[in-house]
Amino acid sequence: MNTNPQTAGPDASVSGPFPDTLGVSAAQARSAVLEELILKDPGRFRVLTGDRPTGRLHLGHYFGTLHNRVRLQDLGVEMFVVIADYQVLTDRDVADNLTGYVEELVLDYLAIGVDPARSTIFTHSAVPALNQLMLPFLSLVSVAELNRNPTVKDEISNSRQSAVSGLMFTYPVHQAADILFCKGNLVPVGQDQLPHIEITRAIARRFNDRYGGGTAVFPQPDALLSSAALLLGTDGTKMSKSRRNAITLAADEDETARLIKGAKTDSERHITYDPSTRPEVSSLLLLAGLCQNRTPQQVAADIGSAGAAALKKTVTEAVNEYLAPIRARRTEYAQDPAFLRQTLHEGNERARAVADATLAEVRAAMNSHYY
Ligand code: TRP
Repeated sequence: MNTNPQTAGPDASVSGPFPDTLGVSAAQARSAVLEELILKDPGRFRVLTGDRPTGRLHLGHYFGTLHNRVRLQDLGVEMFVVIADYQVLTDRDVADNLTGYVEELVLDYLAIGVDPARSTIFTHSAVPALNQLMLPFLSLVSVAELNRNPTVKDEISNSRQSAVSGLMFTYPVHQAADILFCKGNLVPVGQDQLPHIEITRAIARRFNDRYGGGTAVFPQPDALLSSAALLLGTDGTKMSKSRRNAITLAADEDETARLIKGAKTDSERHITYDPSTRPEVSSLLLLAGLCQNRTPQQVAADIGSAGAAALKKTVTEAVNEYLAPIRARRTEYAQDPAFLRQTLHEGNERARAVADATLAEVRAAMNSHYY
């Protein structure tokens, strides 16, 4: 076992037995239990989470997961954040403007309160030992299993490419390497990522069974589902960079006002919160509520029969007020590119030290430590 406190992973026994037929409701129930464990003993957990560098982060990301990451960090949970630059190549042939997108992500992270002194921000292409884990991990999964992954299937059907690349097909295994290189045992994600956590757990379990010789080299990580409801984009479909319906964290106040002004609503003047029959109005109410720490019903009651224009005014003010300090920090950090570079440089170094230690353990377990 690795006993170096800098590189040793957290307690591998944290996650305990958990069925692999992971349904969303089971994951939600498990997440509630985890929330209590985190409050009691944040030091037992190490979070690995991340994003693809494909553009600026938006409010859907923020209230879906980013906000939760900062909360976990501030509770004292150690956190690694991967900027998944290789994963960008799953559904496109070239990664245009990659350096710019990576810098935008670092800026967004710093602006929302990820603290590089406590949390490690890195790009996985800069961590060779992480990527090397992919090879033994690939040997632990079957082609049939890869074929069944519903999220990958979905991404393949939405892809702009005519052929499915080997990377698209195997990226959940690469993601397992992202999580397991640092022995992450807690992964805050949305529901679409549950199949990837399931395969990560299978890889960890199989590696331990096959090579562990009685000790668990890897923890079986848990998904931590956030309770936040899904925010819709301004066109009423899921908020997403590629659909151009998103309000980014970096947008200025005027752009925010313009986007919300153009948001889809309905013709009913009386404003009520009813996600099933009035999804667009309800999503706007939810957004205002999240920004003002109120329920969407309270926001609706205040607006009453004042109509969609009043709703949009409320939402615009709520978003702009909530984001003001985040945007101010973002502007400040953007003026200091040397600090951005240093943050990534140090994060990559830290990640490399952790990955090297894990790879050494893996090679020892696999009897491939020749010198
Ligand atoms: N697949 C994630 C996304 O598309 C990004 C990601 C890469 C990730 N590696 C990860 C998320 C590891 C959680 C854990 O947003």
